[in-house]
Amino acid sequence: MWLRGWDEEYGGILYYRDVMGLPVTEYWQDMKFWWPHNEAIIATLMAYQMTGDEKYASWHRMVHDWAYAHFPDPEYGEWFGYLHRDGRISTRLKGNLWKGPFHLPGCSSSAGRCLNRSRPRGKGEPGGWQTGRTQALVRGDLSIMLRDLVLENRSRRRFDQEAAVKVETLRELVDLARLSASGGNLQPLKYALSCDPAMNARVFETLAWAGYLKDWPGPEEGERPAAYIIVLGDKTITQSFGCDHGIAAQSILLGATEMGLGGCMIGSIRRPALSQAMAIPAEYEILLVIALGRPKERVVLEAVEPGGNIKYWRDEQAIHHVPKRSLEEIIVG
Ligand SMILES: Cc1cc2nc3c(=O)[nH]c(=O)nc-3n(C[C@H](O)[C@H](O)[C@H](O)COP(=O)(O)O)c2cc1C
Repeated sequence: MWLRGWDEEYGGILYYRDVMGLPVTEYWQDMKFWWPHNEAIIATLMAYQMTGDEKYASWHRMVHDWAYAHFPDPEYGEWFGYLHRDGRISTRLKGNLWKGPFHLPGCSSSAGRCLNRSRPRGKGEPGGWQTGRTQALVRGDLSIMLRDLVLENRSRRRFDQEAAVKVETLRELVDLARLSASGGNLQPLKYALSCDPAMNARVFETLAWAGYLKDWPGPEEGERPAAYIIVLGDKTITQSFGCDHGIAAQSILLGATEMGLGGCMIGSIRRPALSQAMAIPAEYEILLVIALGRPKERVVLEAVEPGGNIKYWRDEQAIHHVPKRSLEEIIVG
């Protein structure tokens, strides 16, 4: 059906054609109407969510991107309803007997709900945090999506330990690091992976958690990370790793957040113990550990005045508060 409906030449979904690909009796067989695009955006997203088949994700991107490139009215909002086959506007009307304020809001809210459902959340997580990103995704507004992702990507230290993270997921995340920037393009980083409970337990013993929370020794059994990525520097390539590992770690954590996971960079590591636990060869320097899992804690950002206290803290509901300096304070001059 997809192959019959998708316009290989100009993109978008053709409005009615017969099984032979020939015109139907009406005039619209070489036009693009708004509503099949709205419905296909939802249907492909749902099909992907139900099956996990990448084919549907790719169809979703095709129809989403084409629709948002052609139907929206950049001046007054909403969508035009009727386009020529090549995407040019046929008529600027936005409302008539058939086109009302129905399909587009319906598409946005259905796709939004679908995306919300597809992201596993820990118990204490606020329900609405990804609404902005969802709406942005539906609108195709990448800058808002990125800001929301950065906001969501907090250091998480309590997890649903039972929610396993597969090795394929860790490999996918390392691939994001592989594609990230590297000083002199040396690419001296290597990665050791752990998602096996027994190995996780050994890694956990070598890490120090949340230094400012003096009364908290770290996540208790049941709330510990389900996986770790250990970022290593290959000393046969260089002795100085610059900020490569920070960039790599951020790519990994943004990717994890995008997948509904969360994590924490850990620099406070008993390195010899970890080296031994994971049998890491001597030519690799342990640079960072990234703890990962399905987050089970709520983290909120708060403003801090110049000279104020930047120490993160936890309230009685175990909500983790992270003070952030203001933009005015950090931009010099
Ligand atoms: C290089 C680096 C090392 C870190 N090491 C640790 C660590 O050893 N233990 C820990 O609990 N958190 C560690 N963190 C997490 C920071 O405490 C966290 O980034 C900070 O509190 C701000 O919170 P946010 O990430 O939610 O913005 C580290 C972060 C970075 C960037």
